[in-house]
Amino acid sequence: MAEPRISSIDGKLAEEFAVPSHVEEVKEKMAAFAEHHAAAGRRVVLITSGGTKVPLESRTVRFLDNFSSGRRGASSAEYFIETGYAVIFLHRHRSLYPYTRMFSTMNMLDALKFRGGDTGEVVVNQQVLPNIAKVLKRYQEVKENRLLLPIEFNTLSEYLHLLKAAAQALSTIGSKAMFYLAAAVSDFYIPASEMPEHKIQSSNGPLQLSMNMVPKILSPLVKDWAPQAFVISFKLETDASILLDKARRALETYRHQAVVANVLDSRRGYVVVVTPETQAELILTEEDEKNEVEIEVRIVSNLTSAHNKFITQQGG
Ligand code: PMT
Repeated sequence: MAEPRISSIDGKLAEEFAVPSHVEEVKEKMAAFAEHHAAAGRRVVLITSGGTKVPLESRTVRFLDNFSSGRRGASSAEYFIETGYAVIFLHRHRSLYPYTRMFSTMNMLDALKFRGGDTGEVVVNQQVLPNIAKVLKRYQEVKENRLLLPIEFNTLSEYLHLLKAAAQALSTIGSKAMFYLAAAVSDFYIPASEMPEHKIQSSNGPLQLSMNMVPKILSPLVKDWAPQAFVISFKLETDASILLDKARRALETYRHQAVVANVLDSRRGYVVVVTPETQAELILTEEDEKNEVEIEVRIVSNLTSAHNKFITQQGG
């Protein structure tokens, strides 16, 4: 297999975004996970999920964040596992997590009863936590079979370096790897050299910020770090009239395999999967909603079929 090329973004990443101390250790874990599952005949999907946090001060009091809950990534992880994939779940700390995503911690305490006695037994009221037995059973099977590798990020810097490490770790399994980039990543940041050290003082008057553009990591990911992988990016807009143009432009710019296009307010019930040749609208009907069908089951089904074709075309 060809050695990955050095990209100019590598230099920028190293200079302007603090490298997390555990990145090499995580990379080895991801590489071992990918090789283990590929050897067992499984495909591996790297899911990014949740928003990113951009600090405004180096001793951070304030930061810029975004709306993403991580629900898309967490539910997709479950459906990919049901389809036979092993999942690396690169997610924002405390965003929604596969299997636990259905349960709020508030309900959790109300659902538990301490029976006391010698064993200190605790029982669960399944009316307060519906489906808990089924979900717990599935979670334990997934854990036993090591089908889910969770990796956390918090800041934008951590996200960028861990995604690069993941891309390099998965490059050894070629077209069997899928990247499903559902995280809502900040487009703007303040470079460390321009960031005030201490808390910004309101006594200095109104705040004006100048932020730099975050390098689009999709570009080196597709071209250099994992050139044989099947790569899906997401495109979110609030103005539906520009969404599909922007999705197509992303495909032309980055030359990856598909964009999942969605609008903020309708994202739970309607998305369009755009590829260079096709455009598929995925819609939940009222009936689907009554039956608690989630749009992610349709997105995952569409993309796993496309991944099958891709692998066949690549001769893998
Ligand atoms: O988490 P939920 O509340 O369930 O919401 C799901 C979602 C709306 C966040 C998700 O469906 C979604 O659309 N995510 C992408 C949001 C977006 O528009 O991202 P973007 O335009 O900033 O980036 C486009 C693509 O480039 C994304 O796939 C992103 O991962 C990637 N990117 C972004 C920034 C960057 N520096 N490098 C990148 O490669």
